[in-house]
Amino acid sequence: MSESELNPEVNKKQNALLDFIEKMEQMSKFQEKIDAPADIDQIWRVFLEEVENSIDVDICALFTVDEHTQEFVLKKASPADKESICSKELDLQIEIGMLAWVINRRQPALIPSLTEKNEKTIIMLPLTTVKRTLGLTLLFTPIKESLITQENLKLLAILSKECSLVLENTFLYENLKKEHESLQKAQSEIIQAEKLASMGRLTSGACHEILNPLNIISSHVQFMQTDENLKPDVSNYLNIMQLQSNRIAGIVQGLLQFSHSGVKDLVKAKINDVVESALAQAKYELKMDKIQIVKHLDHNLPLITGDVANLSKVFIILVSNAIDAMPEGGTLTILTKMVSEKDMLPGESTRIQVMFEDTGCGISPENMGKIFDPFFTTKEAGAGTGLGLALSYGIIRDHGGIINAESKTGKGSKFSIYFPTKK
Ligand SMILES: Nc1ncnc2c1ncn2[C@@H]1O[C@H](COP(=O)(O)OP(=O)(O)OP(=O)(O)O)[C@@H](O)[C@H]1O
Ligand SMILES: [Mg+2]
Repeated sequence: MSESELNPEVNKKQNALLDFIEKMEQMSKFQEKIDAPADIDQIWRVFLEEVENSIDVDICALFTVDEHTQEFVLKKASPADKESICSKELDLQIEIGMLAWVINRRQPALIPSLTEKNEKTIIMLPLTTVKRTLGLTLLFTPIKESLITQENLKLLAILSKECSLVLENTFLYENLKKEHESLQKAQSEIIQAEKLASMGRLTSGACHEILNPLNIISSHVQFMQTDENLKPDVSNYLNIMQLQSNRIAGIVQGLLQFSHSGVKDLVKAKINDVVESALAQAKYELKMDKIQIVKHLDHNLPLITGDVANLSKVFIILVSNAIDAMPEGGTLTILTKMVSEKDMLPGESTRIQVMFEDTGCGISPENMGKIFDPFFTTKEAGAGTGLGLALSYGIIRDHGGIINAESKTGKGSKFSIYFPTKK
């Protein structure tokens, strides 16, 4: 006879020890699975698996605390069609003050369900770290309250602690990533702004030096063209000279505009009206090119303060670039909307987004960094000056806004402009 058979006390202890080792193994597996860089979906999946291994549950829900409103928001429910029950249950528990009590205690709590009366018990697992409350897990179990052991609850508490730590790390990592992106954006904005500012200083002086002699040449050519006895060849040459002088004048005017792109006539305006008027001006070209326009304009946007003529110029530039990118036709989608708070970068004020998205040729990754540079063009010589986007960049910057581009070669491009609503 073995010792354990002889002594039931030893037997009991051995079983308890085995049980404990098994639980420890389960925990260590959980840690391994959850420790790798995880997203919320992955954390939730692993957490659910472990919860289901520990206790019989019918419905589970994960609520996280919204950073801005500090309210509990339902992130996941399993099964997914039980979302509304979970939300309702939490609302009722908030009403009777139970949630606040559980969060303050920072311990799992067993309570009767208010939605599934007399049928189910709820286990509330607060997800907290030393610093803050991250959320809460709601578990609906068919097991009677009296049959749920302290061991069950302790294990669930450890699982929640682990889950909270990983969630906290994931949130920190996501915030860090956002801040890094915002720093990178700010850095490239500064580089671009400095590049344009130095171009502006250089060009404004040079432009006047070019325009004066150009005017003299142009007026002399015009004078010579009035001679009725000109040989046809000479007349032809003079026409060419006149045409090319006009082209130089056009480029120089564009450059001047670019270097003095300060906003002039500031008025309160509806951004949708500016978009519509720009579209009306480009309508003829759009018809010719079999381009379909899709508009998603938010009609509840606040007014912006801006130079309407200049803003309209920017929109026309973006529309005509989109037309050029879709020689075989395509779709141009124009959207205006308020940027939701959750999409804003840290420290940003309210913004209005105006987006132009085409299904054109797209921009290659190597050209992406150059499109806002003055004179950068991929169009044939004489077809484009490469000043459109540089000018747009300056105008939007002078409105306190930003313009950025995203593109996939062969698929299309998306230009987004963000205006602040408060200055
Ligand atoms: N929607 C777009 N789709 C594809 N490429 C684009 C688009 N918008 C701009 N680009 C690229 O950026 C370049 C610069 O555009 P920008 O408007 O500054 O000058 P441009 O159109 O070439 O000439 P212009 O000064 O006459 O407008 C274009 O030549 C093109 O390569
Ligand atoms: Mg252009």
